[in-house]
Amino acid sequence: MIASKKGRKERIIEVLNKARGMELHAIHQYMNQHYSLDDKDYGELAAKMKLIAIDEMKHAESFAERIKELGGEPTTQKEGAVKTGQSVQAVYESDAAQEDATIDAYAQFRKICNEQGDTVSACLFERIIGEEQAHLTYYENTSSHIKTLGDTFLAKIAGTPSDTGPSKGFATAAADG
Ligand SMILES: [Fe+2]
Ligand SMILES: [Fe+2]
Repeated sequence: MIASKKGRKERIIEVLNKARGMELHAIHQYMNQHYSLDDKDYGELAAKMKLIAIDEMKHAESFAERIKELGGEPTTQKEGAVKTGQSVQAVYESDAAQEDATIDAYAQFRKICNEQGDTVSACLFERIIGEEQAHLTYYENTSSHIKTLGDTFLAKIAGTPSDTGPSKGFATAAADG
């Protein structure tokens, strides 16, 4: 039986909201790691973590915008608990695993969108999968450096600046004129 148009839309909103919940979790997880890496004075690692958290905020917004276009309500619930107090090595191992699982899930969601005839949502998943892939590669490389070079790698990072420049928030955008 072919699902009704309404049923198809509901299924798409469901996967978009599942993805949004995963993004909300990633934002909280990466922000937590950003503060913790900054506190340990691993500036360069902290800065990149903050930039990745900002990517995830943009993803969460893109999913919300598409959900609204389809007449749904974007979720405010994050998917899963945030890990705290991790070692630097554990941060990169768990983040790589998280990105890997996200890519698998989004590939599945993209397939569902295509099956339901929604190429716009399928393209959104495809674009975001590309960005998650960049996160995965970075986390895997960093994890591998920590594993093989250990303290030598971390000693190079210690004391590097954590500044990412002004992010375009409300106040900074206003200050830029
Ligand atoms: Fe994301
Ligand atoms: Fe990501």
